[in-house]
Amino acid sequence: MTSGTTLSVIILAAGQGTRMRSNLPKVLHKLAGRTLLEHVHTAAAPLAARTVHIVYGHGGEQVPERLAHLPASWVLQVEQLGTGHAVKQAMPGIPDTDLVLILYGDVPLIAAGTLVTLVKSASASGFALLTARLADPFGYGRIIRDAAGRILRIKEEKDANDAERRIDEINTGLMCLRGDWLNKWLSRLTTNNAQGEYYLTDVIAMAVGEGIEIATVSPGHVTEVQGVNTRAQLAELERYYQLRQARTLMDRGVTFADPARFDLRGDLVTGTDVVIDVNVVIEGRVLMGSDVTIGPNCLIRDCEIGDGVEIFANCVIEDAIIGKRCRIGPFSRIRPGTKLATEVHVGNFVEIKNSSIGDASKANHLSYVGDSEVGRNVNIGAGTITCNYDGANKHKTIIEDDVHIGSDTQLVAPVRVGRGVTIGAGATITRDVEPEVLIHNRMERRIVKGWKRPVKVKKGRE
Ligand code: UD1
Ligand code: CA
Repeated sequence: MTSGTTLSVIILAAGQGTRMRSNLPKVLHKLAGRTLLEHVHTAAAPLAARTVHIVYGHGGEQVPERLAHLPASWVLQVEQLGTGHAVKQAMPGIPDTDLVLILYGDVPLIAAGTLVTLVKSASASGFALLTARLADPFGYGRIIRDAAGRILRIKEEKDANDAERRIDEINTGLMCLRGDWLNKWLSRLTTNNAQGEYYLTDVIAMAVGEGIEIATVSPGHVTEVQGVNTRAQLAELERYYQLRQARTLMDRGVTFADPARFDLRGDLVTGTDVVIDVNVVIEGRVLMGSDVTIGPNCLIRDCEIGDGVEIFANCVIEDAIIGKRCRIGPFSRIRPGTKLATEVHVGNFVEIKNSSIGDASKANHLSYVGDSEVGRNVNIGAGTITCNYDGANKHKTIIEDDVHIGSDTQLVAPVRVGRGVTIGAGATITRDVEPEVLIHNRMERRIVKGWKRPVKVKKGRE
């Protein structure tokens, strides 16, 4: 932008989105785990606008309530009388001297770079419009140009004649222009058209009538200007977006078994030589070191995963810190608040919650470890359960270094097992255990000779 001009952004998000057939306002539907409106807002962020005004209406306060964290000025459009009417609602908050960029809340994949180009073009000419050529322009407003290629007006699909409908250059709806011009033209809009609405697009003909030449800019890729009107279109954009994210990760050194079977709903930062098998879902913010391998069908949310970690098939890992060279799975569940030090092994059907596990400790089969502090070199046998919940409160289990816990042990918290303790299989530990002892509470072996198993009594007729 030329120095001295400030930018204001308006995002239109009041429309109903009838074709979504949803109780949720359209702009709250999610793409890659974030609402459509948040995607648009993020694209506008690098422009450092004075204010981002979001025009909302259909669905009422749900939209500003759900997205209250966005830095924006929320403008209510009580009745949805058209795009021109929607823009007008935001104008009282915008100085005449600003350039105004108009975006759509349901066009989520618009790229920041395209917006920068559009704003630059508008700061030179006063008015720039984003247009695109589509193989199937059905439904969009068409760009009508004169013989010299200058824009004359926009014709909506419903108002166009057959010749106009054959034009493949469409109005994306996104434009950037001087605030004083916009204000002047908005006040002259009428509803004299096929839909009885105030069309924002009518300002184009008004500009042309004043001898203003409108600059046009085109997007880097057509998906940038594709709107979401149906769930099918949403799914299409989702797949496109996911593939693009996978490509970016591949460029950074990640191997995918199949980039089409990967979903990132958030941010993933990786070292080199990360290998990701099929159907892995990453959510929130995940940091992975180098040489990490993720097996098929894993869900990983908000985690830090160290170098050389191996995660086998079908694991769910959430809000955890996994140290270097740990091995997890298959079928492990790591819940929030878990911290695994280095070279920890967690095996199948093991659940760990809010616990720290020291270096080289192992829980390889069928265990629950909750609210625990586990030292180094501890072996937790199959079927070990920390009984952390007494029905009302949660209690802590402390297992010191070098403890060996036999299979099928219950540790009734609060309890501390001292360093080097060995617990025989099948024990129920209800009190603290001093270090370096063997403890078991099995019953003595009883042998009953000549024991006959009961036999089923035949029911005779009475
Ligand atoms: C609009 C354009 C059309 C363009 C197309 C691109 C007009 C008259 N037509 O048509 O030229 O090709 O977008 O997708 O502008 N909205 C409000 N309040 C309203 C009406 C709409 O906030 O009263 C919002 C909608 O939520 C949506 C956007 O404005 O985000 C576009 O509205 P929509 O009804 O989808 O316009 P189209 O008919 O598709
Ligand atoms: Ca639309």
